Amino acid sequence: MSQHKDQHSLLDAQPTAAARQRVAQLVQELEHHNYLYHTLDAPEISDTAYDALFRELVELEERWPVLCRPDSPTRRIGGGLLEGLVKKAHRLPMYGLDNVFSDGEWAEFVGKMQRAWDSSVNGPLPLKFWCDPKLDGVALEIVYEDGVLTEALTRGDGHEGEVVTAAVRTIRTVPLRLQGNGPWPARLEVRGEVVLYRKDFAELNARQQARGQKLFANPRNAAAGTLRQLDIQVAQSRPLRFLAYAAGDVVWDTSTQWHGHGEMMARLTQWGFLTPPGGQICYTAEEVVTCARRVREQRDTYPMEIDGMVVKLDNLEAQRLLGHTARAPRFAVAFKFPAMQAETELLGIEVQVGRTGVLTPVAVLHPAPVGGVMVSRATLHNEDEIRALDLRVGDTVTIQRAGDVIPEVLGPVLAKRPPTAEPFRFPHRCPVCGEPAQREEGEAAWRCINLTCPAIRLRSISHFVSKAGLDIPGVGQKWVEQLVQSGRVTSPADLFTLTVQELLGFERMGETLAQKFVDALADARQNATLARFLCGLGIRHVGEQTARLLASHFQSMDTLAAADTETLQSLPDVGPEVAATIRAFFAAPANRELLENFRRLGLWPMGGETASAWAGQRSSPLSGKTVLFTGTLSISRSQVQSLAEAAGATVMGSVSKKLDYLVAGEKPGSKLEKAHNLGVAVLDEAAFMALLQSDDIQPKAGEE
Ligand code: IVH
Repeated sequence: MSQHKDQHSLLDAQPTAAARQRVAQLVQELEHHNYLYHTLDAPEISDTAYDALFRELVELEERWPVLCRPDSPTRRIGGGLLEGLVKKAHRLPMYGLDNVFSDGEWAEFVGKMQRAWDSSVNGPLPLKFWCDPKLDGVALEIVYEDGVLTEALTRGDGHEGEVVTAAVRTIRTVPLRLQGNGPWPARLEVRGEVVLYRKDFAELNARQQARGQKLFANPRNAAAGTLRQLDIQVAQSRPLRFLAYAAGDVVWDTSTQWHGHGEMMARLTQWGFLTPPGGQICYTAEEVVTCARRVREQRDTYPMEIDGMVVKLDNLEAQRLLGHTARAPRFAVAFKFPAMQAETELLGIEVQVGRTGVLTPVAVLHPAPVGGVMVSRATLHNEDEIRALDLRVGDTVTIQRAGDVIPEVLGPVLAKRPPTAEPFRFPHRCPVCGEPAQREEGEAAWRCINLTCPAIRLRSISHFVSKAGLDIPGVGQKWVEQLVQSGRVTSPADLFTLTVQELLGFERMGETLAQKFVDALADARQNATLARFLCGLGIRHVGEQTARLLASHFQSMDTLAAADTETLQSLPDVGPEVAATIRAFFAAPANRELLENFRRLGLWPMGGETASAWAGQRSSPLSGKTVLFTGTLSISRSQVQSLAEAAGATVMGSVSKKLDYLVAGEKPGSKLEKAHNLGVAVLDEAAFMALLQSDDIQPKAGEE
């Protein structure tokens, strides 16, 4: 019996030659497809086909554990908990970088580098720089021995890091074995940054929120937390990416195979690493300044957060000769951009009532500079968001501004929470009229449903005359406020009955101004287009695009008002919900009365409107710009193109220097690379949508 058992295990331990061969083949194929999928975003086989190959390898390795090689893709997936993080020294210290914050400081740095060079080296300093974006993530060192990943260490204190090999193996953009043919160094330490792309971060936080788990303050914190995750399954479920930007210790069996930093980066790419996007050579210090300006301007178009540009002397021998100070290299520096995040005190939470009655909380902040702009207010979206963030008045909070987008509160700094800070209680009554508010099932927003609420009135009249509506010049928010407060104006129709004489009774209103005011309204009454009029009415779910569509299809208010849901739904982009709100709008007695008033006043526009006429009148950030779309977006190509055109943009057919924006969706093609090469600004779908909507602050929760 025991003899039989021994024989069996002996058999198991000695795999057949065919099995050996198959395992080798599977490891290679799976890694190749993994690279195509995760690093290049260009898969060649289906997920099912990949899974089948993967399962086959798992089975072979289970049958013959000796065949489980350290570079096997099955090792990317761990199980259970690690015992705890072990510390280990770096062979060569991982230094930080000195910072420069301006063109002047950069020039000083170059001067210092030149002096250091002249004092110790004969001959000219080779002024050729490698520039790439400074990624805001977690620094990591990955060790390859004879081309195979053997260990990964965090930067730690620069001398000693934590061993995070198991978590790093789960990162799909980390090659487990260097790709292509050698020669590979006998030992290669690849240094780089672990990051979470912004879209992945947003998804991760949405998932955390849905599960009632803690939200991460920013992608860097999320990446750091994930790397140090002892539960490998959790690490694996988060799409971290590693981007290589330098090498540590490199031991070649033969002679050194590279001499410049750029050359080394190209080799790392060939070996299967992702590298920071847009890395390039600059031949003069001035060129570096131009390059830094461009990277900074395009900051929001990178898929990951960046906080500057790193400039390295390209020549590796010159790097070695210049060496390091105690803290940082003398041959490299971080050209930092103004911080897009800041900490400040949350002084209060104000609740605003929107045009459709949605109660939107707004953070009132101690004014703080963020990316060069003073920020004193930020939207908080809705009740659930405040609760998920656990925000309390008195908290120190982290705020963020991403490009032109409205500032947002990322969360409280718990260590600085004063003991007196109490959770915020969202009001269940309208803060303006005091009537009970409602929150319907499945909706995030509380809503004031009092049709006579002065706040809703004021907002809808302001909307009617604003750019989003009839765009009546000179009839601004402040005047509307005064007129509504006086009780003289209770609906947008009342504006058209105002006389110069009446207006003169208002503070700071003179003859000329009053005449202009009345003229502007008369002009709007005669010349308003149907689409604009519809926009101005502020029907829920009817934005510019839909208004234009309705106007050109129905050509008059009367036919639109008479259209049934079926007719409405036969239009592209009008679904049951939109059709229902349009019907409800025309059915409500208060709205019928308002419309009758407009008709009596002679404000009753007819006819459709062309996209270009619309665009010409609008001041959208996209008007006059050229755009091109690539990759898969969440809405159809024709929809997104007509949105762009409606905003005044021209949709192009190919990438050229004249292109203003390339909008890249999932799996973009060669256009993206071309755009990067030509220095064309690249936007992801979210950034494009933000640009489309950026004339107006749009609360996330409501349909305002
Ligand atoms: S190069 C030879 N390049 O910045 C110099 N560092 O403040 C070694 N970092 O700890 C660093 N992006 O983690 C380099 N493109 C980039 C980088 C980068 C981010 C980080 C790195 C370093 C820190 C220094």
